[in-house]
Amino acid sequence: MIALSLAEIAEVVGGQTHDIPDPSVQVTGPVVRDSREAGPGSLFVAFVGERVDGHDYAAAVVEAGAAAVLASRPVGVPAIVVEDVQAALGALARHVVGRLGATLVALTGSAGKTSTKDLIAQVLRSKAPTVFTPGSLNNEIGLPLTALTATEETKFLVLEMGARGIGHIRYLTGLTPPRVGLVLNVGSAHIGEFGGREQIAEAKGELVEALPPAEEGGAAILNADDPLVRAMAARTKAKVILFGESDEADVRAENVRLTDSGQPSFRLHTPSGASDVTMRLYGEHHVSNALAAAAVAHELGMSADEIARALSEAGSLSRWRMEVTERPDGVTVVNDAYNANPESMKAALRALVAMGKGRRTWAVLGKMAELGDEALAEHDAVGRLAVRLNVSKLVAVGGREAAWLQLGAYNEGSWGEESVHVSDAQAAVDLLRSQLRPGDVVLVKASRSVGLESVAQALLETGAEGEVAAR
Ligand SMILES: Nc1ncnc2c1ncn2[C@@H]1O[C@H](COP(=O)(O)OP(=O)(O)O)[C@@H](O)[C@H]1O
Ligand SMILES: [Mg+2]
Repeated sequence: MIALSLAEIAEVVGGQTHDIPDPSVQVTGPVVRDSREAGPGSLFVAFVGERVDGHDYAAAVVEAGAAAVLASRPVGVPAIVVEDVQAALGALARHVVGRLGATLVALTGSAGKTSTKDLIAQVLRSKAPTVFTPGSLNNEIGLPLTALTATEETKFLVLEMGARGIGHIRYLTGLTPPRVGLVLNVGSAHIGEFGGREQIAEAKGELVEALPPAEEGGAAILNADDPLVRAMAARTKAKVILFGESDEADVRAENVRLTDSGQPSFRLHTPSGASDVTMRLYGEHHVSNALAAAAVAHELGMSADEIARALSEAGSLSRWRMEVTERPDGVTVVNDAYNANPESMKAALRALVAMGKGRRTWAVLGKMAELGDEALAEHDAVGRLAVRLNVSKLVAVGGREAAWLQLGAYNEGSWGEESVHVSDAQAAVDLLRSQLRPGDVVLVKASRSVGLESVAQALLETGAEGEVAAR
């Protein structure tokens, strides 16, 4: 963080100083909510959670060197006391980003936010110092905490924004107003909570409404291939830049193919030149993510060659997203258990088949959550696609949705043992342990709540007796 005195911080957040002998003491960062991360010069934010009250750790963090605590009541050690700690944290982030020289890039979408944010960060940081959301910390607390890690040196600040309802993105853009805003897609993630695709589009589009007008540098980067995203052009005064496969896209890919190892390769076209990309990431859904990242980087002054080079070198920064591991016996485990939706299921199955050419392929799949009325049809479609793509073995894991998935495969014409339905992760591991042969490729994927990464981890454990941890 940029250095601020306790007196300044108290003023910015509208708080009262308590037990502070010297208000000119500076906070040099980081700002933390986990007491274990508090060190010299830090500011500890005390939240009251369901199980833990941050205020109980106030003395310990000051002992560890923290300059003060941002708290909702006096705690007997140096504190800035406010009514609403979350609002105060937001106000502090807002103040600090206003003083930074960094360009703010924000992105949202239903699927691929974290993967794309990691791509944008890797491309931009090849050019200049870049701070970005770690993992998926994209909510009203993670976002300001991330923004507060930026320093005077930071040139680009890349922030993932999540939303579970109307007004959430507006709140986040209020804390960290972006100059460049990217909307990836409007899919079916959390459709149950939102009430429908139009509501999701309404909520995600708040990002482009928050951008400055084109004359002030505002740029809205929109997916040309997603009609609900494209329509957001009407909701912004910023310059609109389209990415996608559509001919009208400003940034697009030509000659898209998957290599034999399942990695996308394509020719990247930008308004100022073209260059070839072969990605290290797996799965064709990354083409769209890469184009989105390229559009952002191009807007921020990078050339097609620079962007293509960085995209070709970019790795996976976040876990369990098409994480490919070779076992000593030649079994390849593809752990994509971080999350799942209909689009990413299809992309992952295609990548599996590309990687598994001439080998036996296994798709170990679980439920895609929050699909509302579309759940039956979407699980059925994934089961059918697995058969059409000629996946050797389908293992559907879990309850009702897994049954639908397996039934889809069966109705599409899978034979006897080609598709099976098992009740839980342990049963899947037992089945795989008894049937996997050297050279097989295994994809593991389901929604986050299913926790199927335990299957991938069990397959990678040495020894055959490991139990799957209960969740
Ligand atoms: N462009 C995309 N379209 C559809 N699914 C995607 C896309 N990019 C990634 N995914 C899949 O969505 C899941 C979540 O990816 P992630 O990047 O963490 O997205 P988010 O942060 O939006 O939840 C992963 O399983 C990944 O394979
Ligand atoms: Mg995410």
